[in-house]
Amino acid sequence: MSRVIVVTSGKGGVGKTTLCANLGTQLAKSGLRVLLVDVDLGLNNLDVVMGVENKIVYDICDVVEGKCRAKQALIQDFFVQTLYVLPSNHTYTNFTISSQEISKIINEVEYMFDYILIDCPAGIDAGFHRAVASCSEAIVVTTPHISSVRDADKVIGLLKSYNFNYIGLIVNRARGDLMVSGEMINVETINDFLQVDLLGVVPDDDVISTQLLTGGGVNMDTPAYKSFYMIANKLHNGVDMVYDCTKKYKGVFGTIRRNLKRMV
Ligand SMILES: Nc1ncnc2c1ncn2[C@@H]1O[C@H](COP(=O)(O)OP(=O)(O)OP(=O)(O)O)[C@@H](O)[C@H]1O
Ligand SMILES: [Mg+2]
Repeated sequence: MSRVIVVTSGKGGVGKTTLCANLGTQLAKSGLRVLLVDVDLGLNNLDVVMGVENKIVYDICDVVEGKCRAKQALIQDFFVQTLYVLPSNHTYTNFTISSQEISKIINEVEYMFDYILIDCPAGIDAGFHRAVASCSEAIVVTTPHISSVRDADKVIGLLKSYNFNYIGLIVNRARGDLMVSGEMINVETINDFLQVDLLGVVPDDDVISTQLLTGGGVNMDTPAYKSFYMIANKLHNGVDMVYDCTKKYKGVFGTIRRNLKRMV
C-alpha cells in the first residue's frame, strides 16, 4: 500500500513545491515508485520545476472531466524512471475539483506507487481541505520566520483535527550563520513551539533558487542535496538524522566563516 502524503504550509512561497520535487526525486532514486501530484489549481508549477512542462498531454482536470484515465495523465521523469508527475491544469482557469474527485484519482493509481506526494496550495481555504482529504500523512513546511511559523502552527492545528497518522516538520531556508548569531529563530525553538516530528532541515542554498530542475533533483555534493537525502532516509528508513546547518558556523573557524559571510 502506498503512503499518501500532503506537503503543506499555510504561508505561500516557503518551499512546498521545491520539497515535493526533491524529496520525490530522492525517494525514487533509491528505487521507490513515486508520484508527485500538483493540486495547486491555476498556479501549476510542479511540472515546471520538474522540467516536464512540455511533455504534458493530459492534466488532472482532463482526468476529472473523463477525457482520459488517470494513468494516461502521468508523466515520467526524464532521469529517474520510477518518478512520475500528475500535473495540475495548464489550460483551464477557474476549474475546481472536489476532494472526492482527488481521492478517486489517488485510488485509481495508488497500486502503482510506494509514495504519492501531494503539492498543496498555500493557505487554509478550500484548496487546502481538498488536498488533505485523501491523505493520511502530512509534511508541513516552514521557513525560520515568525509569520511562516505562525501559519504553520494554524495548519498543524487543522491537520490534527483530521486525525493524521503522521505530521512531520521541515524547516526550509535555514541560515546556520544567522541561527548561531541569534539573528534568526533557530530550529530547536521552532520545533519546541510546533510540537510535531522534526523531519528535516533544508539550508538556504543558492543552488535551489538558481538551478531550474529538469528532473534528477539538485546537484549532488551540495548542502541542499544532503538535506533532501537525509529527509528521504528518515521518512522511508526511519534514520533519525537531521541536517545541521549551524555546524560550520560554530567554533573559531565558524566565527571567521560567519564574519566573512557577513562581509560579502
Ligand atoms: N532552501 C532554499 N534555498 C534557496 N531557495 C529556495 C529554497 N527553497 C525554496 N527556494 C526558492 O523559493 C521560491 C519558492 O519556492 P516554492 O515554489 O517551492 O514554494 P511554494 O511553497 O511551493 O510556493 P507556493 O505557495 O507559491 O506554491 C522558489 O524560487 C525556490 O527556488
Ligand atoms: Mg508551490
